[in-house]
Amino acid sequence: MKKLAIKKWDELEDRVPAYALVADVDLVVVRYDESVSVLYGRCAHRGALMSDGSIDGNNLICGVHGWDYRLDSGISQYNNSETLPKFNAWLEDGQVFVDEDQIAAWVADHPQPYNRDAYQGLFQDPTGTVDEPHVKFIRMLANDGLSKVGHHGPSSAMGVPRDSLPKWDDLQFVVGQLANLPLLDEEAVGTELVIGPAFDITLTDALSLAEARQALAKHVLLTELITGLGKESPSSLGSVKIATTPTGIDSCVRLAKTWRQLRDYRDTYVAAANAVEQEYALANVEYNPDTIINLESVLAIEQALLSHVEHQLVDAPTEELLELTKTRLARFWSDVMPSIQAHWALIASAAEVLLEADRVADSIAVDTGRRRQK
Ligand code: FES
Repeated sequence: MKKLAIKKWDELEDRVPAYALVADVDLVVVRYDESVSVLYGRCAHRGALMSDGSIDGNNLICGVHGWDYRLDSGISQYNNSETLPKFNAWLEDGQVFVDEDQIAAWVADHPQPYNRDAYQGLFQDPTGTVDEPHVKFIRMLANDGLSKVGHHGPSSAMGVPRDSLPKWDDLQFVVGQLANLPLLDEEAVGTELVIGPAFDITLTDALSLAEARQALAKHVLLTELITGLGKESPSSLGSVKIATTPTGIDSCVRLAKTWRQLRDYRDTYVAAANAVEQEYALANVEYNPDTIINLESVLAIEQALLSHVEHQLVDAPTEELLELTKTRLARFWSDVMPSIQAHWALIASAAEVLLEADRVADSIAVDTGRRRQK
């Protein structure tokens, strides 16, 4: 026997697991009342350090997935076949001693895979399990990069063999169950918890689902429009309540954008946008063209931009105006309203003709200048 002191008794807290390393074996040391227990310090499940665990009654609990081991024996109460080997330990002269020979003999039969100086040090899971079969591979890549698999990576990165691809039989249909029956449209709904903070809107429980939906739609469209107009927002919209928190504004702007992109819901967007436009007389507002170039919340904005581009082209056609025209041809209102699309298309053709005419005029002017010089 070879006595080895591993801990000072005074330094051990009652029922607080402590770590020790003897003969390349990780140990967990637990003082409980006037007794001490020294067990193998790696969980039988995935090898987590048991000194990072906690004590619950008579059990030492692994901190990772909660496996339990009796403090005094190392045997799991839940499943007796799960154990942490127990080593001889005793208190002498204010210190906890173990028999180093006993531990060395044990490790001879149970070689340890842990390289404490390598990647992840003490906190390694060297093998993985059936349910997480790639852990070992991930560790190898993290540790060695591609140095052990060639610079293109493992061969599986180059393709999946046909017989490994999922087949129809691999699909599973799982029956879903709802904890509560879905509410009908007229039912009052509690929206303040989820929708309220996310969109910075107050929706009372008194609203039916349809009313709540309508209020949210208006809030989303007006938030996108008014924040998009910024300082150029007309005074008639000054008292309108919109989202003011960064999260609320962001959620509203994203929802408005997503809504326009969803083909199946475009009609509902147009209806909501037209309602907002009418309620706030948005067609009567004078918009600054520079501010609305990237907006498309309501039709009035699109029409204001159309009219601006049309007038500008007559005065001074430019490539930028042509580009803007082409961009709007692919945007929401062109997509949902053939008349708007035709209008933009007409302007685009006119812009191309006018620009070409300008180019021809310029080249004639250059030619004439040269002839005069001769
Ligand atoms: S590693 Fe201990 S319970 Fe999973």
